[in-house]
Amino acid sequence: MNPVRIGLLGLGNMGRFHADYLSQKKVERCELTAIATSDAAKAAKYSGARLFNSPEALIDSGSVDAVVIATPHYSHTSLGIRAFGRGLHVMVEKPISVHVADCERLIAAHRKSNRIFGAMFQLRTEPRYQKLKKLIVTGDLGEIVRVNWIITDWFRTEAYYSSGGWRATWKGEGGGALLNQCPHQLDLLHWLFGRPARVRGFCQFGRYHNIEVEDNVTVYLEYPNRATGLFVSSTGESPGTNRFEIAGERGKVVIENGRMTFTRNEAPMSEFSREAKTGFARPDLWNIEIPTENAPTQHATVMQNFVDAIIENKPLIAPGEEGLYSVEVANAALYSSWTGQVVELPLDSAAYERKLNEKIADSQFEKKVVPVSAEDFTKSFTR
Ligand SMILES: NC(=O)c1ccc[n+]([C@@H]2O[C@H](COP(=O)([O-])OP(=O)(O)OC[C@H]3O[C@@H](n4cnc5c(N)ncnc54)[C@H](O)[C@@H]3O)[C@@H](O)[C@H]2O)c1
Repeated sequence: MNPVRIGLLGLGNMGRFHADYLSQKKVERCELTAIATSDAAKAAKYSGARLFNSPEALIDSGSVDAVVIATPHYSHTSLGIRAFGRGLHVMVEKPISVHVADCERLIAAHRKSNRIFGAMFQLRTEPRYQKLKKLIVTGDLGEIVRVNWIITDWFRTEAYYSSGGWRATWKGEGGGALLNQCPHQLDLLHWLFGRPARVRGFCQFGRYHNIEVEDNVTVYLEYPNRATGLFVSSTGESPGTNRFEIAGERGKVVIENGRMTFTRNEAPMSEFSREAKTGFARPDLWNIEIPTENAPTQHATVMQNFVDAIIENKPLIAPGEEGLYSVEVANAALYSSWTGQVVELPLDSAAYERKLNEKIADSQFEKKVVPVSAEDFTKSFTR
């Protein structure tokens, strides 16, 4: 088969990152043949690619087999639907849409299209999370009873929020930390533990920055088996923490500071509790250090998998439709914060969309855009 002709929509921070590794041929059996950008100067270094001044023009051109959508979140839905309608395969950046109703529209368009739909959830390729998934799937960790993720090291400055007109407003971005920084972690929570039954969010809006959306978040999750979860995140805290702790019947896994440890209960804890004859007995523990290394090419790996899926129907690392679940928890956490109530899942997507539209209509916020000088965007990727 001929190489898959890829068209890139958006040449901002993320789009340039994709363009770099694609044009350096780090993904096989594909070619970056087209780019949609309003800034032709930024595209000059990708000399083999045909330029379009709008994503719609690229999609309609008939000159590509697949598109990579790296534009602001709201446009993921409209551009994705348009691309599926033109018979193109779609790789969409996270979040797949801003809210669940838009996810549903995008997923419906995909179902009608019979094309490949991937989402850029590159953290799924990280060995530490793959090993954690293996511990869960094999039953080595036992039934999960508690999940805590404190990820408060997403520090962002005022300059970051002022840098793009679309950022950090209800109208432009549709959310803050939950929609921009946290989708990867929320995706991993779903990929590892499934869909919670209910969510209670405590979001603080503009707590650390002059923005109208959330920059400090505490979310309580409850799963169908009564396992509990706590997800804490912030873009204003320094130094912040990134600690992922999972407790199961067979022990506890902690991922923090580049280490992954598994403290294993020699006997499942509830069984031990039922059978012990003395009050203060505890299961014997085995301390296991699980080796992990960083995956150096997370995005290119997910993109290679997308190309392989197009050519030979290889299963996707991150099917696009699974992107709904991280959006659902983000939406539920916001909805719960606004209403002061626990939100049962599945989320009422129409009710959430109405509420978000009210926020947009009622917004008094005036965005002042101050462009930032060039800096190393890859520093933003989570460790
Ligand atoms: N997977 C990851 O690790 C990762 C990292 C960063 C960003 N992202 C995602 O990539 C997307 C883009 O983020 P970014 O940081 O590159 O933003 P950015 O502001 O740097 O770039 C956005 C690009 O889209 C263009 N654009 C703006 N409005 C548009 C519209 N309405 N229609 C079409 N194009 C438009 C802009 O001109 C710009 O080229 C976001 O959805 C973000 O969540 C993913």
